[in-house]
Amino acid sequence: MEQDLAELHDEATALLTTITDAAELERFRIDFLGRNGRISAIMRRLPLVSKEDKPRLGKLANDTKRKVEQAYRSRQQELAAAAEVSSQPSPDLSLPGRQPVFGSLHPITRVMEEICTVFSSMGFSIAEGPDIEYDHYNFAALNIPEHHPARDMHDTFYINDSILLRTHTSPMQARIMEARQPPLRVIAPGKVYRCDSDITHTPMFHQVEGFLVDERVSFADLKGVLALFTRQVFKKDLPLRFRPSFFPFTEPSAEVDIACVICEGAGCRVCKRTGWLEILGSGMIDPEVFAMVGYDSERYSGFAFGLGVERIAMLKYGIDDIRLFYENDLRFLNQF
Ligand code: PHE
Repeated sequence: MEQDLAELHDEATALLTTITDAAELERFRIDFLGRNGRISAIMRRLPLVSKEDKPRLGKLANDTKRKVEQAYRSRQQELAAAAEVSSQPSPDLSLPGRQPVFGSLHPITRVMEEICTVFSSMGFSIAEGPDIEYDHYNFAALNIPEHHPARDMHDTFYINDSILLRTHTSPMQARIMEARQPPLRVIAPGKVYRCDSDITHTPMFHQVEGFLVDERVSFADLKGVLALFTRQVFKKDLPLRFRPSFFPFTEPSAEVDIACVICEGAGCRVCKRTGWLEILGSGMIDPEVFAMVGYDSERYSGFAFGLGVERIAMLKYGIDDIRLFYENDLRFLNQF
């Protein structure tokens, strides 16, 4: 009986490894482990063995049965796992791979970079200053003393009595002139802030300040630089219009309009039906400003301008609502 059990165990385990489908496996189960199966048949012989051998042989029979059951179950699991894998479709290796999604530069960033490139090619160097600015540089150093009415136009976000979010990039004029001596040719791009919001204004927007100080600088130089700039950025000769204006830090001052590229001067929603769009404020640097930074205004003169970057981007790309730049709608941004 001992030998029968051993043989049966070896036969069963060997047979299991050859079984590859569920029907065969079921036949195995009935044949070996079923109530009328071969293990049961051996066990039925137990009452016939001698009294001394019975406990040992009984245990051996039970152990054998358990081992065969275990081998049966693990084969069952193997077959189930294999069935699951083969039921899945195999990958189609000829399909194209997934394309990584690349980000791109924001249209404002692109236009800022382009403006900087154009002025760099004219010999201007680039300087950047803080968004959080002293009242002194934003106003007083630009000839806008406390209580000056010009402060009202700026819709300033104050942080405390002497610190604010800069309302324009002009404080960079004072900062750079204070630190360096002429001749100077500098542009200062950056963010500026005003408490204002509608289709042509956002509370944060971008400016590029530019200024040039040297001996014998004239208004004609300003005109020449701006004409060259607009020709390079818009790739065509758009008319410019200089309108007399007032800034406390320039004298004389002018606001510069460009013919509306959206309607070509016919009048539309963007240019408020005038055919012109204001793109910058400018002028000859006021001798008062030179005096505050210790420059000799008998010897030096200079011009300054402050460009609105969003305006230029709107014109370049034909965008009629400034707020689109800041809604982060991918359908809009993906076009650039
Ligand atoms: N800082 C002015 C503004 O934001 C623009 C400007 C810059 C005007 C330089 C003159 C000279 O309105």
